[in-house]
Amino acid sequence: GAVHYYEFVLKEKNFTKLCNTESILVVNDSFPGPVIRVHKGDTVYVNVHNQGYYGVTIHWHGVKQPRNPWSDGPEYITQCPIEPGSNFTYEVIFSDEEGTLWWHAHSDWTRATVHGAIVILPPVGSTYPFAKADEEEIVVIAAWYDGNLKELVDEDIATGEDLPHSVANTINGEPGDFCPCSKGTTYRWMVDYGKTYLFRVVNAVMNAELFFAVAEHNLTVVGMDGHYIKPISTEYIMISPGQTMDVLLTANQPLGHYYLATRQYSSEDASVTGFDHVNTTAILQYKGNYTIPSSPSFPSALPLYLDFMAALTFTSRIRSLANKEHPVNVPLNITERMYITVSMNSLYCPTCTKANDNETLVSTLNNISWVNPSTDVLHAYYRNISGVYTTDFPNYPPSFYNFTNDELTDESIVLTRQGTKVKVLNYGETVEIVFQGTGVLKGSVNHPMHLHGYSFYIIGTGFGNFDNETDPKGFNVVDPPELNTFGVPKKGWLAIRFVANNPGVWFWHCHFDRHMSWGMNTAFIVKNGPTSETSIREPPDYMPSCKVPVKSWIQ
Ligand code: C2O
Ligand code: CU
Repeated sequence: GAVHYYEFVLKEKNFTKLCNTESILVVNDSFPGPVIRVHKGDTVYVNVHNQGYYGVTIHWHGVKQPRNPWSDGPEYITQCPIEPGSNFTYEVIFSDEEGTLWWHAHSDWTRATVHGAIVILPPVGSTYPFAKADEEEIVVIAAWYDGNLKELVDEDIATGEDLPHSVANTINGEPGDFCPCSKGTTYRWMVDYGKTYLFRVVNAVMNAELFFAVAEHNLTVVGMDGHYIKPISTEYIMISPGQTMDVLLTANQPLGHYYLATRQYSSEDASVTGFDHVNTTAILQYKGNYTIPSSPSFPSALPLYLDFMAALTFTSRIRSLANKEHPVNVPLNITERMYITVSMNSLYCPTCTKANDNETLVSTLNNISWVNPSTDVLHAYYRNISGVYTTDFPNYPPSFYNFTNDELTDESIVLTRQGTKVKVLNYGETVEIVFQGTGVLKGSVNHPMHLHGYSFYIIGTGFGNFDNETDPKGFNVVDPPELNTFGVPKKGWLAIRFVANNPGVWFWHCHFDRHMSWGMNTAFIVKNGPTSETSIREPPDYMPSCKVPVKSWIQ
């Protein structure tokens, strides 16, 4: 493949939105940041210059980076932060991904403003598995915060408050007509009647799943997370944070203007939630000579904030293409089975004296709440440095109980401990993970789980407790979608499979940043295979070292 070079300059810049001017950290003065455009099989060198005020790293979300964890990016997992005034060159290796992915900062909450799309075209000389669109457009949906997010997060962490809530979402940087002081800048596409457009949609929002629809226009979803899927014809989509979708739209409606709108989706119970955003909109406007209606029409098919069934109806339709050119390789004989609870918990605090001190909220995988080490796991693993992490991540939950019961108040279930526990896999192992959502602390929402270094097959999902006798009988090994991020349904389960054929250290976590901050994370160490072609590459000699001791958000 071809080689491309990008310069990313990270710097604070003033942006005026929603009646306020904020200084935010962005790449190359733009929000969202620059688009990386490649063909499948290319390599990209991105030289990141940090001219901001604190350490930052960048992650190439969904890019598998074969044998190259050194450039994966999550801070304290595969590298130490790029300190202000220094630079670091990432080598981003594209292997089997094709479609849309994205890049984002992977340091605290910096990704709110430091992100952009990655477009991966078919290899030179080949083409899409669907009729080529006339034009391609980027749709990056992000969250906007009132105030300096870094300060807000640090403050909340210091005081144990809930982590920040956004004040609006944006489409390509603009909140749209329904938000204060925003009408003049709504993002607008001028379209030609009869043409077909490929929209590359990225959910870069920090903490929310989204519905998305275009007034009067049908959508056809043809790709997801850098893999093609069987076309889904639909009036709306539901996209989780971290996910990307390739969506075709034909401009075949009467000349006029139409809202393209997103609305937050929450899987919470109606009784728990009270949080909704004003709808975020952009406009599709037909070119030509006609009298434009005074206001664009709004998509009536856009589901409501709490429409759980609408979300499920869409996600249950996703299937991989599964043809000769795009085959499915689901492992059938499993060598490593993991059963993992996904929960909100309280932190066990042995030194607390007051009765309520056990109430610090954390989130967990198998009742362990992740804390970042003070130097990165990859460095410690590669150089055999002990004391940085332990390898006793539990495969099975601490006890068996009715996970989805709402009244799980027993202290042994609710209270949890912190740790930096990773799971070690041998090269080539065939892995099945069943994630089990729980009702602990009534914290039941979907959790969009994301794995670095891999994509995985979604072979099954369902409600209630996973039943090891009956549920595997319904597993789809014929055309399951191959994704990098997918929701564990609230009070339900999700089964995935992949082959551990990418040696390295790979983070996995919930892609709600609130849950990631609270510890819903761990890492796989995938050992080297027998040959140099199945082993981790040599590290570049310019890896940053950890200068500042990392702070855990818990005091
Ligand atoms: Cu897009 Cu570890 O994340
Ligand atoms: Cu979560």
